[in-house]
Amino acid sequence: MSIQSPSAQDGRRMPPTTPVELSDALIRELSSAPGLFHRGSEGEALSGGITEVALRALENSVSPGMRTLETGCGGTTVAFAARGAVHTVVTPAKSEEDRVRRFCAEQGISLDTVDFRIGSSDVVLVGWDEPLDAVLIDGAHRFPFPMIDWHYVAGAVRVGGDVWVDDIAIPAVYRLFEFLRGEAEWQLVAIHDDKLARFKKVANPPEAYPLDWELQRYNDRSKWVYSYMPLGRRAQIWRDRAMIGTRLRRLTGKDNRRRSGGSI
Ligand SMILES: C[S@@+](CC[C@H](N)C(=O)[O-])C[C@H]1O[C@@H](n2cnc3c(N)ncnc32)[C@H](O)[C@@H]1O
Repeated sequence: MSIQSPSAQDGRRMPPTTPVELSDALIRELSSAPGLFHRGSEGEALSGGITEVALRALENSVSPGMRTLETGCGGTTVAFAARGAVHTVVTPAKSEEDRVRRFCAEQGISLDTVDFRIGSSDVVLVGWDEPLDAVLIDGAHRFPFPMIDWHYVAGAVRVGGDVWVDDIAIPAVYRLFEFLRGEAEWQLVAIHDDKLARFKKVANPPEAYPLDWELQRYNDRSKWVYSYMPLGRRAQIWRDRAMIGTRLRRLTGKDNRRRSGGSI
């Protein structure tokens, strides 16, 4: 299934709007004014989550016509729109779209190239196959949503494109950060304000089904987890692994102790 942006629905790509540079005052408002875009179930004001420095870094990376997507909606949506990105936003809250629309109308920021997809990202993103230059993952922060968001769009991010992940200190988000930081296909470019990580895609993962999982550094043997086993069983596994290691070193002639006549 292909999910199309507003620019692609009629087979044409809309010309990007003239980018607007957000003033420092506007960046401050977008990042810190509680309730500007986000409200709780009782209508109480919630803070946006993105910080000033992080929002500026994200904004600076976007250029007109870039094909971008974010999960979650708010100040970042305004930044993508202001920079003239051909942008898709995924949020379950129609009220957030309404607030962003009101805000952009007041500030003279065009939303012509922005497509609001109202729904949960785990449903909306299924089948996404349109190439992307940049993605921001800042939607549901509960496990396993950050991974789900990444999973559905990672293949569509072009080599050289960016994946931004906000709130990396939160455990459900940190697991994604940890995974990306370890894999050869992703390069950590920067962490802004101790919370927003920027990764560059440097390669597509090798196609190696069904043993693709073995190629992920995340699943390296040295990282296998045995902590759920009784201590005796764990000790046995460590002994077995040590013996296999010794045999392999001998077979490959890499056992220096033996070659130099040392005792084992
Ligand atoms: C931390 S806020 C996003 C902040 C936004 N980037 C900004 O700059 O204001 C989290 C966002 O995730 C959205 N969200 C929550 N559950 C979601 C889901 N299942 N799918 C997509 N978005 C979701 C919320 O509605 C909210 O917009």
